[in-house]
Amino acid sequence: MTFSAHPSADGVWHNIVAVPELIDPAPAAPLQQPALVVRDGVIAWLGEAGALPAAHAQMRRHDGGGALLTPGLVDCHTHLVYAGNRAQEFAQRLAGATYEDIARAGGGIASTVRATRATDAETLFQVASRRLEVLMADGVCAIEIKSGYGLDLATERKQLQVARRLADAHGIVVRTTFLGAHTLPTEFAGRGDAYIDSVCNDMLPVLAAEGLVDAVDVFCERIAFSRAQTERVFNAARVLGLPVKLHAEQLSDMGGAALAARHGAMSADHLEHLSAAGVAAMRDAGTVAVLLPAAYYALRETHLPPIAALRAAGVPMAVATDHNPGTSPTLSLLLAMNMACTLFRMTVDEALAGITRNAARALRIDATHGTLGAGRPANFVLWNVASAAELGYWIGQRPARTLVRQGRVCDSQHAVGA
Ligand code: NIG
Ligand code: FE
Repeated sequence: MTFSAHPSADGVWHNIVAVPELIDPAPAAPLQQPALVVRDGVIAWLGEAGALPAAHAQMRRHDGGGALLTPGLVDCHTHLVYAGNRAQEFAQRLAGATYEDIARAGGGIASTVRATRATDAETLFQVASRRLEVLMADGVCAIEIKSGYGLDLATERKQLQVARRLADAHGIVVRTTFLGAHTLPTEFAGRGDAYIDSVCNDMLPVLAAEGLVDAVDVFCERIAFSRAQTERVFNAARVLGLPVKLHAEQLSDMGGAALAARHGAMSADHLEHLSAAGVAAMRDAGTVAVLLPAAYYALRETHLPPIAALRAAGVPMAVATDHNPGTSPTLSLLLAMNMACTLFRMTVDEALAGITRNAARALRIDATHGTLGAGRPANFVLWNVASAAELGYWIGQRPARTLVRQGRVCDSQHAVGA
């Protein structure tokens, strides 16, 4: 069904349970019997049902059936648009090869680049649409999608154009990120700096001029790009007025997060090997820490990101799926929340803020997304659970009951659970 064919969510939503931390501005006291008014696709009012303003009293009623209400979830780090899969590498890793071994042997990201270059835009759109539908059934209403499986102008453009098309087709907010500096393409073997020249001069300005780039990312790692090369890409982004973010400290401490912070990055992501100096730099710059526990899990990492230090420093923490065919083939943001709690020892409140409020902040869409409040577009989820803890507790339950995206009711086909 086309997105505009979904019914309007306008009316008074009542018999719901709200999460006080996710209402903005925070109510003076927790709402006992909340009601939420949607008018023309926008949240017009949120408060105690007994205090519903007369202006809304005649509107249609939607009975929430006692469901838990949260804002629509925000997946702030994904590589959703690609062809093929890497199940073969999964088998290789089980047999003892590491992610780095496979990358150095010409597999890894490069293998998805080959598949994505060879696939037409329509097919990419179809496979990415199926993935997006699964993410949305789990409550996602805004998503970041990176390029980085093209590594040439035509294919990076193809990925970013598909990402834009997904937004219109599915009624979801998509923020695009240009990740041309994801790995060195084979045609530039041994010429990393020449490839960075091409990223900065041939690709980024053209794609930005075409309106395809909302932010710029780099993979700063031993098997990818150095700090100096990362900085050149960041400088090129600054010239174009584009914000930056970084795949930082995933496999080793490259000092990438501190570099990103110095460039005012929106976020530094992964961070398993983040140092104390990196934490301090992120705190000073207001850079969000995006934690990706499903990639940690899939690679069977053992080096935990410094959650306690990030918490102590007050660095905002977000949690994302990192959906990609190499290190994180999951399509459930609630599973990432579960792993953030179970593997990273984040609290329920932290992990829930991580997939809502702080994820929106990581994408700089927090004025409109990640919390509920009057004046925001109506993006929310009613869940078949009684408490926020249940969102992180169940594994693979898919408890979303009613999904409202951009003012339209897109009921979940997958709702199960309590
Ligand atoms: O976020 N680390 C770099 N990029 C992705 C993995 C991409 C891939 O292996 O295809 C990540 O883990
Ligand atoms: Fe990633």
